Amino acid sequence: MEEKKSSHYLTGKEIRAIVKSNNKIIRVLEKKKHRKAQESEFVSEMKDARNILEVENLHSYFFTDQGVVKAVNGVSFEIPQGSTVGVVGESGCGKSVTSMSIMQLLQGPYGQIYDGAIRFKSYDFKRDAQGKPIPIYEKDADGNVIMEPVTDKKGNPKLDRDGNPMTEPKQKRDSYGTRQFEMEEKTFDIAQMPIKEMHRLRGRQIAMIFQEPMTSLNPVFTIGNQLDEVTLLHFPGSTREDAKKRSIEMLNLVGIAMPERVYKSYPHELSGGMRQRVMISMALAGDPRLIIADEPTTALDVTIQAQILDLLRELKERINGSILLITHDLGIIAEMADYVVVMYAGRIIEKGTASEIFHHPMHPYTIGLQKSKPTMDSETDSLFNIPGNVPNPIDMPNYCYFRERCSGCIKKCFGDYPEMVQVSPTHWVACHLYEKEETE
Ligand SMILES: Nc1ncnc2c1ncn2[C@@H]1O[C@H](COP(=O)(O)OP(=O)(O)OP(=O)(O)O)[C@@H](O)[C@H]1O
Ligand code: SF4
Ligand SMILES: [Mg+2]
Repeated sequence: MEEKKSSHYLTGKEIRAIVKSNNKIIRVLEKKKHRKAQESEFVSEMKDARNILEVENLHSYFFTDQGVVKAVNGVSFEIPQGSTVGVVGESGCGKSVTSMSIMQLLQGPYGQIYDGAIRFKSYDFKRDAQGKPIPIYEKDADGNVIMEPVTDKKGNPKLDRDGNPMTEPKQKRDSYGTRQFEMEEKTFDIAQMPIKEMHRLRGRQIAMIFQEPMTSLNPVFTIGNQLDEVTLLHFPGSTREDAKKRSIEMLNLVGIAMPERVYKSYPHELSGGMRQRVMISMALAGDPRLIIADEPTTALDVTIQAQILDLLRELKERINGSILLITHDLGIIAEMADYVVVMYAGRIIEKGTASEIFHHPMHPYTIGLQKSKPTMDSETDSLFNIPGNVPNPIDMPNYCYFRERCSGCIKKCFGDYPEMVQVSPTHWVACHLYEKEETE
């Protein structure tokens, strides 16, 4: 892959060379995304069965005419089942590109997952030989399937040709009235999944909550309409009536007082906080195992922020799910996260448990971030500022990306980019200061 120095303007010839090289790579990646693939090509296995998501050496690039922007450049982290993992870092460090990669929502053809694995433990419908989900039927005490009358839309019994009432096996339903099917656990490598297959996961098993709900809600449809759609799309056999029941339940769950009224409203009729609640209810409607929340409260007032965070926490317990929480607000991370991943210029520079990152930060950047966090009792109203700039993403150096801003440099920092050093079973840092031979 050809990359150009950013220290001078590119000539037309150089740009043409970049475009040619980009197009070559993009063609290969697009073909892979749109290929017809057997499931075996993207079924994988978790390295640790306790995780719900394992991101390994992820590279997500933007192929621009100026060169390749390595927005995510070799990122590895895990989300243990049932936990909240917070991702922090300055604007532009690759937080959103990481989350968009997990959803395969990078804007193609220029944005692409270039390399790496994204293993997700899905809980999907078990399918019969024809690929249809297998319903679970209610059984009586003797183990016989219970039959029930078939009714029309108005609830009147349907009759067969001879005038006898028709019956069908009674399918099991969950507490929201949604039909139940046999399920099975399977691990998929999202990085290898054709884009067409992503509907199995997106919005169903992995749901996303964005900063600005207005961008994800459709202004011309009612909330009810959009919520119903999630149920109708993801739960086979659901009728409009089933969907409405589930939608109202979901609105109830997220603490909306008059769900019937909100159900009939259009997005613009609701406040920002209400819209975010609706977004969360929509995320929940698919019964997800993983919720990705990208700056979910940044656009909201402080009091509403606290309510939404409480709600997320409560719902995570209820669905026994996991959360990937992206924010630049360390306060939110401290409150919510079990594990923290610190990103800098497309790479992870430190990761550990929340306690390790907050009480024993090691990387000079993480230490700087902690200092830049405003506190109630801080006397100054100006934030601690880490001086210097992040390197140009098109032309990343081969030494530590933080070097220009680091006050703790040692001789080694003028050498290669530092490897990740493990400092506890859960704590990792990429900094020469902690490499063994330096500390001995
Ligand atoms: N469509 C695009 N084309 C080119 N570069 C892009 C594109 N989208 C993102 N990038 C680049 O990818 C890098 C990471 O962006 P990303 O949106 O992930 O940052 P972020 O950490 O989410 O920042 P913020 O806190 O501002 O949301 C940035 O350098 C950005 O300029
Ligand atoms: S590797 Fe060196 S330059 Fe980079 S953060 Fe550590 S001490 Fe600073
Ligand atoms: Mg972002």
